[in-house]
Amino acid sequence: MMAEQKILVEVKNLRQYFEVPGKDFFRKAKVKAVDDVSFSIPKGSTLGLVGESGCGKTTTGRTLIRLYEPTGGRIVYDGETIFDSGDVPLTDADGKPVLDAHGKPVCGKKVKANMLPYRRKMQIVFQDPYASLDPRMTIGEIVGEAIDIHKLAATPAERREKIIRMLERVGLNSEHANRYPHEFSGGQRQRVGIARALAVDPEFIVCDEPISALDVSIQAQVINMLEDLQNEFGLTYLFIAHDLSVVKHISKRIGVMYLGKLVEMGTSSEIAFHCCHPYTKSLISAIPVADPVLSRSMKRIVLEGDIPSPVNPPSGCRFRTRCPYADKLCAEKEPEWKEVGNGHFCACHHLEKVT
Ligand SMILES: Nc1ncnc2c1ncn2[C@@H]1O[C@H](COP(=O)(O)OP(=O)(O)OP(=O)(O)O)[C@@H](O)[C@H]1O
Ligand SMILES: [Mg+2]
Repeated sequence: MMAEQKILVEVKNLRQYFEVPGKDFFRKAKVKAVDDVSFSIPKGSTLGLVGESGCGKTTTGRTLIRLYEPTGGRIVYDGETIFDSGDVPLTDADGKPVLDAHGKPVCGKKVKANMLPYRRKMQIVFQDPYASLDPRMTIGEIVGEAIDIHKLAATPAERREKIIRMLERVGLNSEHANRYPHEFSGGQRQRVGIARALAVDPEFIVCDEPISALDVSIQAQVINMLEDLQNEFGLTYLFIAHDLSVVKHISKRIGVMYLGKLVEMGTSSEIAFHCCHPYTKSLISAIPVADPVLSRSMKRIVLEGDIPSPVNPPSGCRFRTRCPYADKLCAEKEPEWKEVGNGHFCACHHLEKVT
């Protein structure tokens, strides 16, 4: 139990703004895809990240492992700061801001660590198993390439043995090694993606909707496999999904994202049974309930309208344009990230009305 408490991955005020062509030809606009996101993941555990399409889940995962260079924030991996934009306040062990002699918050130094030592340790399983495998490479070459990049096999025999072992570990076999991605089903391709990530002995894997493109019948198999692999290798996951029902079982904690920000975070059971943000409530009431009595007794929140543009997010609370509880305060002031219970956080001005 104690070992689980050690934090492997921590992000603080992570920001990722993309420049895109603006309405005005000469001025670029900024897509605030990830805006001030903070969380930490203990070693060997899983943080689930959920939210509607376009809310910034993939961008969070990719920025966290620095596939995208962050616009701002701090990323700490296994106690080492691998990125710091220099404007994020430091906190002490109790989470209180560190102050200087004049009572001003002290920020961390700017850091852009060389990622080479971390590339092997931090892996990603991509969202789209159709696009993420090179169609001109055999499955063996795809898994072997990862082994070569990180020089993890001393001889061709060791390399081959490692490739086969990885394929077998994800439910494929040695005959598959000489075949091409198009010869496989979606589920099998995702297994190849997992084998590729696993082949380099990672510690941390961003699982970006690894099952959303798959048939329902094989989703559970892949989830179970990921759980088994986690236990066997002590892996730490950031597990991204649209749907709360998918992450609920595999995640210890769940973060809910809306338009580039976290709106709520807590243990899986807190989020599933005692969520307090209206957006999380709407996500939960969208999950079909098999029990008709329970289903009728549940208050449903159905959201109207589309997600606003992350180029021009609403003032104050970003969710207010779709929130049934929104009022003047919500338009004026961004809600604070408050602890509502044991490690359960929520950003909403009207918690007492919602719960
Ligand atoms: N490379 C990029 N350049 C510009 N904008 C981008 C880029 N990548 C993502 N975005 C924008 O950032 C926002 C967040 O995108 P992201 O892919 O992270 O969302 P997501 O939550 O993963 O969505 P989905 O569930 O559909 O995968 C979107 O508005 C998207 O259009
Ligand atoms: Mg995505």
